[in-house]
Amino acid sequence: MTSNEIIRFPESLLLGVGSSAYQVEGAWDEEGKAPSIWDAFFHSGENEVLHEFIPLQNHDTISDDEEPIDLLTFFKGFHVFKSTTKLRSQVSEPSMYSMDDGGMIACDSYHKTEMDIQLLKDLGVQIYRFSLSWPRLLPDGDDQNPNQAGIEYYNNLLQKLLDNNIQPLITIYHWDLPQSLQKIGGWANSNIVRYFTNYCEFVFKTFGDKVKLWSTINEPRLIAEGYGGSSTAPALGENFSGIADYMVIHNLLLAHGYAYRLYNENFRETQQGQISLCLDTLWFFPADPNDEEHKKAADLAFQSFVGIFVQPLLTGEYPKIVVESIKATNKLENKNLTRIIQFTDQEKKILIGAYDFVAFNYYFSLYAKPNLTFKEEDNLKTKDLKVQLLGFKGDHKPEDTNAGFRNLVDWFDEVLNHPKIFVCENGFAEDEGVDKSLEKKRYHYDILREVDQALKRNINIIGYCVWSFMDSLEWASGYKSKFGIYGVDFNDPSRPRYKKENNFAFFQNLFKTKTLPPPEIE
Ligand code: BGC
Repeated sequence: MTSNEIIRFPESLLLGVGSSAYQVEGAWDEEGKAPSIWDAFFHSGENEVLHEFIPLQNHDTISDDEEPIDLLTFFKGFHVFKSTTKLRSQVSEPSMYSMDDGGMIACDSYHKTEMDIQLLKDLGVQIYRFSLSWPRLLPDGDDQNPNQAGIEYYNNLLQKLLDNNIQPLITIYHWDLPQSLQKIGGWANSNIVRYFTNYCEFVFKTFGDKVKLWSTINEPRLIAEGYGGSSTAPALGENFSGIADYMVIHNLLLAHGYAYRLYNENFRETQQGQISLCLDTLWFFPADPNDEEHKKAADLAFQSFVGIFVQPLLTGEYPKIVVESIKATNKLENKNLTRIIQFTDQEKKILIGAYDFVAFNYYFSLYAKPNLTFKEEDNLKTKDLKVQLLGFKGDHKPEDTNAGFRNLVDWFDEVLNHPKIFVCENGFAEDEGVDKSLEKKRYHYDILREVDQALKRNINIIGYCVWSFMDSLEWASGYKSKFGIYGVDFNDPSRPRYKKENNFAFFQNLFKTKTLPPPEIE
């Protein structure tokens, strides 16, 4: 049912907006920055493989509830891509992305600190969530030769935020691994854990006096997708799907765990910050709520997407249902390879309880039912999931999105025993040239109403960030998918920002007054 009350949040709830380094900074090769895996993915010429993306459907047209979404071509649900991989020598065009700059300039935020601070002030936010670029700070990957220009850039940004009473929430890693580390296997090489803790130590030492809220890694699941698919960097393709992605998940969890322990041992006492791992989340509803098999499929999907990161932080183990499902595929395929490796006792100690709050991103939810029709050519990961994921029935269905969010916060509250929760991203994309501002405001109003209701159920939500501060590079989708509160003119090389007149007042009012009238009577 559509609600029309005025929401009033407690003063203590932190409200703000988010961005990430690769999506906004640009200046991809300036002042000592080294290429990241996303530079390699798009434009630096470092990658011998190019990825050709054919948009299949978008958010509104994933409508037929019998139409399965292939996991490997599933990217955020808003845009689904079919990707084919070609060698550089097989294509005539030097770049598939000539209409986009692939992040070379992006929003040019590297050169616009003053301006962006002013925009944040105008909006009235309390929190700005942004990420640090590892290759800008440590171009070699480790802390032997830090890049002074990068340090100054973030120090200046942090100082200006604090001068204006805006709290930073820093994501230490939002997908842009130094390409030099990819050459030795990236997140699939277990030594990455040492590189990551070395990077974190440098970050805590350098910026820790100015930061109280940290998330180590943004959306580990999407990072792992890049090792078993082609929609995210390093886009290794499907050859190691169901193998490399589990290695990556393992190493990401350990990297987070060791960074958390490092902070505890060397920095917590003096810096007094809080740390988390930031998960991408969805809720999965059984396609038929009365069918036990559908319920099991929804559970398996949820545990494969979300539980696979949460359970190790709780017990040091992967969810049983996921491990069993992988074993079952192995049996079926007559495979001997252990594809998901249990943590050692020492590692379990590192992982259990390695968070001060729960951080997650939420956009939408899906339906699930068993997949009984595997084909010979389906890859291992698809077979492990044993689930068909179904999109929205008809147009975007707000009830499902809202109920999914509600179920999720209740689940975290119960399973992790009443933790602090920070909603790091929640957003609605408008496509180029299409004004969906009313739908967008309704989307945020509804989820914020869920936040309000959750607070009334005594769930400890401490913060909420709108994704995103401004339109920015939507990774493989380029600049056409627009999540921003501010718009950016990407046809103009100086990247001017502008207020989106149809939604600016709505968000400004939310941030400045902590109250929210329904968008229709705003
Ligand atoms: C990512 C963002 C991205 C957003 C919208 C999240 O997966 O953290 O970088 O822009 O979703 O697709």
